[in-house]
Amino acid sequence: MADFQLKRVGILTGGGDCPGLNAVIRAVAKSAMGKYNATVIGIEDGFEGFVEGRMHEIQNKEVSGILSVGGTILGTSNKGDPFHYPIEDLEGNIQIVDESARVVRNYRHWGLDALIAIGGDGTMHISQKLFEMGLNIIGVPKTIDNDLAATDLTFGYDSALFVATEAIDRLHTTASSHHRVMVIEVMGRYAGWIALGAGLAGGADIILIPEIPFKWESIYKKVRERSLHGKRFSIVCVAEGARPEDGDIVVKAHDIRRTDAKQLGGIGELVGKKISEDTGLETRVTVLGHLQRGGSPTAFDRNLATKYGAAAIDLAAEGKFGRMVALRGQQIISVPIKEAIAQQRLVPLDCPEIRAARAVGTSFGDD
Ligand code: F6P
Repeated sequence: MADFQLKRVGILTGGGDCPGLNAVIRAVAKSAMGKYNATVIGIEDGFEGFVEGRMHEIQNKEVSGILSVGGTILGTSNKGDPFHYPIEDLEGNIQIVDESARVVRNYRHWGLDALIAIGGDGTMHISQKLFEMGLNIIGVPKTIDNDLAATDLTFGYDSALFVATEAIDRLHTTASSHHRVMVIEVMGRYAGWIALGAGLAGGADIILIPEIPFKWESIYKKVRERSLHGKRFSIVCVAEGARPEDGDIVVKAHDIRRTDAKQLGGIGELVGKKISEDTGLETRVTVLGHLQRGGSPTAFDRNLATKYGAAAIDLAAEGKFGRMVALRGQQIISVPIKEAIAQQRLVPLDCPEIRAARAVGTSFGDD
C-alpha cells in the first residue's frame, strides 16, 4: 500500500479480559498520536460495541497512568461475535443472526483507515473474516491461556502464571500443616499452559493437563506413595480442561451467546472427591477462577504488551493488514492472522517443561 496514510485508527479489546490490555491500548494510542499524528477511536466492549455503534475518540489523558492497571478501559465482551450475534427478545428467547454488515457500515461511517483488534482466538477468527470483507485489520495476541498459534507467547499468560504460582505456594504451607491433599483448579480452556507453568514453578506433585488424559489409579498411586514415604501432603494442579482417559471434559454451563458456548469448570471438585474417596486422605479443593485474570500485569507482560502495541501501529502505518504481531524468540514479528487461527497452540508432550517436571518426579497421571 504505497500511498496509504494512517489518519484514523480504531482499537478494541475482545473476549475475556487479562492483565496487559491497557498497556497495549496505551502503546497504540500514544504511538498513533505521537508518531503518526493519527486520531484514535476506542470501540467499547469489543465487537458488541462495534455492532451497536458505541465508540469515542481517545485523548492522551485517557491513556495516562493505565500501564499498570489490569482489565481494559475500553470494556470487553465474549458474546459479541458479529457473525454469530445473539439477539434476545422480551421473553428472553435468543436468536443468532449475522450482523457483520453493521460492523462494516460502522467502520466506514466512522472513517477508520485501520482497526487494531486485541484478543484471543475468538477475536482473531472474527478479525480474519472482517479482513476478508475488506477491513484493514491488525491483530494483537492476548490471552491468559497462551493457546494462540504463530506466537511464542500471548501477553496475559505471565501474569496468570504469577497468580497461580503464588496460590500454589500458599496452598503448600497449609497443606503441610494439616497433612492434606490440596487440589487447585486453574484456567486455560483446552490448553494446559497455566497448569503446567504454575505446577512446575510451584512444585506440584501431580499436574493434570488436557493434552495428557489421566488415569485415576495413577493419581491415587502417587498420593499414596507420598504418604508411604512420610510426605504427609500432596499438591495437585489441575487444568480446567483436563479429563480422565475414560471420561469427558467437565462443562459447568452452556451459553450460545458466547464465542465458545462451553464454560469449563468442575474437574477440580471431581478430582478432590475421587482422591478422598479412594485414598481416605483429607482433601480440599481451590478453584482459582478469575483471580488469574485480574489485577496488575507483571513487568514481563507490561513490556510485551507495550512492544506489541507499538509494533501494531507501525504495521498499520505501513499498510500491512490481515496480520497479527507475534513474539518469535526475542523479536517482535508479524504473521498472517490466518496462521494464528489455523490451529490451537497446545502443550507439546515433549516440551522442556514436561520433561523437567517428570525429571523431578512430578506425575501427569499417565503412568
Ligand atoms: O480465555 C480466558 C478464560 O479465562 C479461560 O481460561 C476460561 O475458560 C474462560 O476465559 C472463562 O470465561 P468467562 O470469564 O466468560 O467465565
